[in-house]
Amino acid sequence: MDLYEYQARDLFEAHGVPVLGGIMATSALEVQRAAAKLMKAGSELVVVKAQVKVGGRGKAGGVKVARSPEEAAAVADEILGLDIKGHVVRKVMVAQGADIAEEYYFSIVLDRTKRRYLAMLSKEGGVEIEQLAQERPHVLIRRSFSPLDGMTDTLARDMAYEAGFDEADIPQLVPVFKKLYEVYVEEDASLVEVNPLVKTNDGKILALDGKVTLDENASFRHPDHAELQDHSTTDPLELKAQKMGLNYVKLDGNVGIIGNGAGLVMSTLDVVAYAGHKLAEGDDVAAKPANFLDIGGGANAEVMANGLEVILGDPQVKSVFVNVFGGITACDEVAKGIVQAFKILAADGIAPKPLVVRLDGNNAELGRQILKEAALDHLEQVDTMDAAALRAAELASRTNLVAV
Ligand SMILES: Nc1ncnc2c1ncn2[C@@H]1O[C@H](COP(=O)(O)OP(=O)(O)OP(=O)(O)O)[C@@H](O)[C@H]1O
Ligand SMILES: [Mg+2]
Repeated sequence: MDLYEYQARDLFEAHGVPVLGGIMATSALEVQRAAAKLMKAGSELVVVKAQVKVGGRGKAGGVKVARSPEEAAAVADEILGLDIKGHVVRKVMVAQGADIAEEYYFSIVLDRTKRRYLAMLSKEGGVEIEQLAQERPHVLIRRSFSPLDGMTDTLARDMAYEAGFDEADIPQLVPVFKKLYEVYVEEDASLVEVNPLVKTNDGKILALDGKVTLDENASFRHPDHAELQDHSTTDPLELKAQKMGLNYVKLDGNVGIIGNGAGLVMSTLDVVAYAGHKLAEGDDVAAKPANFLDIGGGANAEVMANGLEVILGDPQVKSVFVNVFGGITACDEVAKGIVQAFKILAADGIAPKPLVVRLDGNNAELGRQILKEAALDHLEQVDTMDAAALRAAELASRTNLVAV
């Protein structure tokens, strides 16, 4: 999970990384109040910064200085609603203005292939780091280090020397690098980046812009991270699926897909896409997968009903393909699950859509028999994956054509 800058700032502050005051706001009025508060506390100027999870905000007009609360409100009006690389600005951060002497770069990332961490430092910060790494790689210091050793005083000092920092700045920089490492480890991050890390004219080191990516695999250790999640940009169906504990990703096609096991679902997406092309008329592809949904190993009736409910709630979905390979959970269990799921959905008043089921593997015959006897409306069984995909695509394409 990527954090917004204001959230990274809060985390930094909580860990003792030197930062300036910053207040998140969603309207010009809130910005005006926040600016007044910061200025009362002694800031001569404030910076209004677009909060979007994409780089290059400054260049896009998303970072602006203001010298009064009224001016802050006026620039907020310009920034709120701005489209930065496809991200519409809904929040801004009002930050205390810094009196910048120099801008640096510092980051820690996970190096998966080496199973180590990588720290990077440059005296030339504030600019796009990808560009710097390409054009002037020698000014970007990279140090791989073991998680067992962590960011030691020696490593921090060595990096600063190598990057060309003055002797006098090093005693201030070392504890900042170590604090940022503390954020990285204690919050289970996979990225902590500060660009720019600045030295002010009175010699203070400050983290002015932070990017943090948290490792969601570790979220069980951080119940407080849940509230950092921003649901306003999550697809409502994905949100619903998340609450139900389903592995669901919304796509933009018209064939809803349910399978057991991520590998099977991935290949189901492929066969449906292939079938859609086969049925294509001219440039119009007849059918495309509408989602990824893996109901996992022990797919009981409730999970099946939840999955169907999410998929049927997608207005783009015209047909559904349930592709199950029975393993530990045998096909007869899955079939019973489908029958019960239909009852649950009917009770909830959720209208069915054409459904194609392919059961194979453990107890497939028995499962097919159960579905046949249940004689559910709108449900067809097809025995092979390819034929079932084609049928689901056909059913979807009868109702509409999707342009690619
Ligand atoms: N609080 C502040 N006070 C003074 N100047 C600031 C402040 N915050 C940012 N700046 C200036 O604005 C520049 C851009 O800010 P920032 O790094 O936050 O955004 P960005 O680099 O455009 O965005 P991104 O990091 O998303 O690419 C900084 O390099 C710095 O010169
Ligand atoms: Mg920046």
